[in-house]
Amino acid sequence: MASAGRTATAAAVPEDVPLRSSAARPMPAVGMGTASPTPVAHEATKEAVLAAIEVGFRHLDTACMYGTERPLGEAVAEAVRRGLVQSREELFVTSKLWCTQNHPDLELPSLRETLKNLQMEYLDLYLIHWPVSIKPMPITFPNKKEDAVPFDVEGVWRAMEECQRLGLAKAIGVSNFTTRHLDKLLAVATIPPAVNQVELNPAWQQRKLRAYCAEKGIHVAAYSPLGGQNWSGSGEGNAVLESEVLAEIAKARGKTVAQVSLRWTHEQGVTWIVKSYNKERLEENIDIFGWELTDEDRHKISQIPQKKCVTATALFSPEGEFPSVGLSDMDIVEE
Ligand SMILES: NC(=O)c1ccc[n+]([C@@H]2O[C@H](COP(=O)([O-])OP(=O)(O)OC[C@H]3O[C@@H](n4cnc5c(N)ncnc54)[C@H](OP(=O)(O)O)[C@@H]3O)[C@@H](O)[C@H]2O)c1
Repeated sequence: MASAGRTATAAAVPEDVPLRSSAARPMPAVGMGTASPTPVAHEATKEAVLAAIEVGFRHLDTACMYGTERPLGEAVAEAVRRGLVQSREELFVTSKLWCTQNHPDLELPSLRETLKNLQMEYLDLYLIHWPVSIKPMPITFPNKKEDAVPFDVEGVWRAMEECQRLGLAKAIGVSNFTTRHLDKLLAVATIPPAVNQVELNPAWQQRKLRAYCAEKGIHVAAYSPLGGQNWSGSGEGNAVLESEVLAEIAKARGKTVAQVSLRWTHEQGVTWIVKSYNKERLEENIDIFGWELTDEDRHKISQIPQKKCVTATALFSPEGEFPSVGLSDMDIVEE
């Protein structure tokens, strides 16, 4: 099944999505992610990003937390040298501010460090990774609950706005924000967020958040569109790749389960970001155009039981207490 209709080329990828920031180039409708639960060799990430560019991906997602900014930047430079793209400008690169830097005075230095890692002059999109602040310190994972501190949404967003004004980020946005977090942010923002990157797939459809973001002009990007990489460590299995409903639809359409999930996500008007470091699967993932799900398929998918995998508590070790922050302020689970 995995070879179903593999004809991926850059030309097969549909139009890009305009973002509300006038300085930003439109966001390509599909992207490649680079997060892994266990460390991956520098060279393996670089090769995977090069393979992604080769099969047609023009949108690359990283974060200082992932440790993949340097190999991703090297892959982009190599792609230009090899003529896979003419210049860095052809690519849309997103990175994210980690929770330990979620403090107004640390954001610009953190972005400059990110750009140094990437060997780039600017990011296409800079995101607040989580609505969570942790005491300033080098990146650690998991974190101690006693290191969580209140998230100064106004101060942090002002510094993000400054990053955009300086031209170091062409657009700014957030990640893992619920409608409640967005309400607070929009109340203080001069530049509204262009994007909210959240967990989204047929097993966690985020209907309420998508409706809210559509109304406010915030574009939604989907992480874990294939159900993710067992980020919670529960080992419970993958609700997308192991879905019988999706498997049935895939069989009927001559597609893979991954392609059905990515096609459904694309049809929701959401930009997906999928991680694969395997060239065959990269080709399979980008090959979701030129066909559609039927109304019956969409109805069946709408009935899939909903379950969120990634939660804010997963950022912290189980032991200890939150001394100065309520979990309800950070909670990102919202039906
Ligand atoms: N903002 C945030 O807080 C946040 C959180 C999580 C993720 N993200 C971003 O979103 C990206 C994607 O999310 P994710 O990594 O959680 O999960 P995902 O993309 O849903 O799933 C990735 C997993 O699926 C496998 N896979 C990829 N294509 C496949 C296919 N066609 N068939 C079967 N298996 C396939 C990958 O393995 P192989 O590599 O072996 O193919 C990998 O184990 C991340 O890499 C990261 O950039 C952001």
